[in-house]
Amino acid sequence: MAKDFRIGMIGYGFMGRAHTNAYKRVSDFFDLEYRPVLKAACARNEESVKAFAENWGYESIETDWKQLIARDDIDAVDICVPNNLHEEIATAAAENGKMVLCEKPLAIDAEQGERMCQAIEKAGVPNMVWYNYRRVPAVTLAKRMIDDGLLGRIFHYRANFLQDWTIAEDLPQGGAALWRLDAAAAGSGVTGDLLAHCIDTAIWLNGRISTVNAMTETFVKERMHNLTGKKEPVEIDDACAFLCRFSNGSLGLFESTRYARGHKALYTFEINGEKGSLKWDLHDLHRLEYFNYDDDERVRGWRSIHVTDHGGDHPYMDHWWVPGLQIGYEHSFVHQVADFLEGLATGQAASPTFRDALETQKICDAVLSSAQSQSWTEVA
Ligand SMILES: NC(=O)c1ccc[n+]([C@@H]2O[C@H](COP(=O)([O-])OP(=O)(O)OC[C@H]3O[C@@H](n4cnc5c(N)ncnc54)[C@H](O)[C@@H]3O)[C@@H](O)[C@H]2O)c1
Repeated sequence: MAKDFRIGMIGYGFMGRAHTNAYKRVSDFFDLEYRPVLKAACARNEESVKAFAENWGYESIETDWKQLIARDDIDAVDICVPNNLHEEIATAAAENGKMVLCEKPLAIDAEQGERMCQAIEKAGVPNMVWYNYRRVPAVTLAKRMIDDGLLGRIFHYRANFLQDWTIAEDLPQGGAALWRLDAAAAGSGVTGDLLAHCIDTAIWLNGRISTVNAMTETFVKERMHNLTGKKEPVEIDDACAFLCRFSNGSLGLFESTRYARGHKALYTFEINGEKGSLKWDLHDLHRLEYFNYDDDERVRGWRSIHVTDHGGDHPYMDHWWVPGLQIGYEHSFVHQVADFLEGLATGQAASPTFRDALETQKICDAVLSSAQSQSWTEVA
């Protein structure tokens, strides 16, 4: 009989739903020592959180996260609220002895992130940050191929995360749906929101980033603020591009924007090594493109690996349908829950922990600071 893993979910937006779906699915597809129990959902609006809880199957609700973290029928708190709330909730939850699963970016900046790491480590509670792209099977396969030396020495890493949803000048900032445009709630713009994902994947696949040189732009300088009712300066970065050096000697090139007309969530990366190259595209997330220089010259060329095979060849896929049938975006969250629960059972923490995610935060800080000083900047 599996042991209960009792969840208190804070926030019922995009990620509140993505995580809840993962908790509901995981025990059907993975044989684990722990089984998620949807104990309570929390958000400020009673009517809305009640509707969410009823729809998704939570046993109870709270309208104040302080009440939620004080409950002794909750084992783990899942933080799915805007970035400026992560520190206070995570710290208080850890002090109350709760495990903490926190959405990315870990914090507003590295200073705050460091305090969160110290609090969570002092409390000694299991923790994780939801950099879910590590658990897309094709991305996990890329990690295994690189670690097994299939690319040899790495020369280049490039990544993009492109969207187009903030081009309209009359789009307001702040409040429920638009907190991402409000620096007070989000911390930064595309750097913390989108590039943080690219950076997390990059350092997981290719190791430390040591120095960065960035540029940012805010194309629309003022927007109506939903909370003040007035036009306020926009203080987030609408677009960011940076060059970097990895500690292994390779060069990196990253770009993110919410002004790439036609792109909704185009996350891509490409890695070029001495023996081969890999590329991946979120829009075709079950495929990994691979070029192997050792191939017979007559057939040498880019191949497209359909990452759906069984027998342990393709990460996580043994748990799903039959070879050849693909899975999607939401499964990356199911895999992350499965790995976290596996980690609880074995005592081997699933990555990225708060401490792992702090590295991404330090790189984001260096990127923003470099853009401001217009110079190469060391990652702290
Ligand atoms: N891993 C990913 O791919 C990914 C994707 C999207 C968002 N995120 C991260 O997830 C977090 C939430 O983003 P989202 O897209 O789900 O946002 P969202 O706007 O869809 O939802 C935010 C939720 O927070 C709730 N909330 C706000 N203030 C609260 C408070 N004081 N107490 C309780 N609830 C409160 C809101 O009611 C809402 O339910 C952010 O940190 C974001 O960066 C991660």
